[in-house]
Amino acid sequence: MAVAPAFHYEPVSDDPPVAIWPWPDDVRDCHCVTLRYSADEGCGGKVPPLPPQLLRATPRRKAEFIAGRRCAAEAIRRLTARTAFPGMGEDRAPIWPAGVVGAISHSRDRAIALAGSNQQFCGIGIDIEKVLNEEEARDIASQALTASERHSLGNAIDPFMTGLIFSAKESLFKALYPSVRRFFFFEAAELSDYSEDGSASLRLTEDLGGRWRRGTEIPLRVCRFEDFLLTRILLPY
Ligand SMILES: CC(C)(COP(=O)(O)OP(=O)(O)OC[C@H]1O[C@@H](n2cnc3c(N)ncnc32)[C@H](O)[C@@H]1OP(=O)(O)O)[C@@H](O)C(=O)NCCC(=O)NCCS
Repeated sequence: MAVAPAFHYEPVSDDPPVAIWPWPDDVRDCHCVTLRYSADEGCGGKVPPLPPQLLRATPRRKAEFIAGRRCAAEAIRRLTARTAFPGMGEDRAPIWPAGVVGAISHSRDRAIALAGSNQQFCGIGIDIEKVLNEEEARDIASQALTASERHSLGNAIDPFMTGLIFSAKESLFKALYPSVRRFFFFEAAELSDYSEDGSASLRLTEDLGGRWRRGTEIPLRVCRFEDFLLTRILLPY
């Protein structure tokens, strides 16, 4: 079974947003921040205003939103020396302050955000997913993997590779959305490379507009973090 490099981090109790860099490369002008939260009680600390869409949301949804925004605000502070909570667009995409691009993800009790300079990056994607069991992998594979991806996995259920492909495509969606400004589905890209050192790439199977043409290879990084799988995409200009 395929694996990915593991990133080890000792959380402290009452976890504040902390900066981590779980990948082997050294990237300037980009900050990754994570936070553990309780889906029922939130995560304490300074709380961003809730957008109108979330005023009647469940406590769990409010908690994940707040945790993601706290991570994003700390990543922005590290990048710009100013604190700002990204807003939420009608399309749910975060609205980053001028000069910043980034992405937010949350799963179960962990939120994470990556923010970088828009002088250097035209898009950033991050996605955190809990490791799938076989039943979850079967469900996800039927939605998120193309026939060719399923074939290349021997048409067997591989929870690790299924989670990796799903997470990579969610990261891709977040990274490309600011450029393409439209929804696109899981068929729009396929995993074209994966190495156990945590490097991987997706190949676009459709023209998505602008420079994002069919056949474009988009590198990404994968690692394990606690009992999650984490994928990351940085799109330079
Ligand atoms: C939007 C989507 C990617 C979010 O993923 P998710 O598994 O629900 O949850 P995550 O925690 O990883 O990410 C949620 C965050 O994504 C961000 N997000 C939502 N819509 C977004 C968009 N259009 N562009 C960029 N980021 C977006 C938000 O910050 C959101 O958190 P928030 O609502 O608390 O602010 C997912 O719901 C979706 O619609 N996927 C289908 C599109 C897709 O992945 N296509 C594959 C292309 S190959």
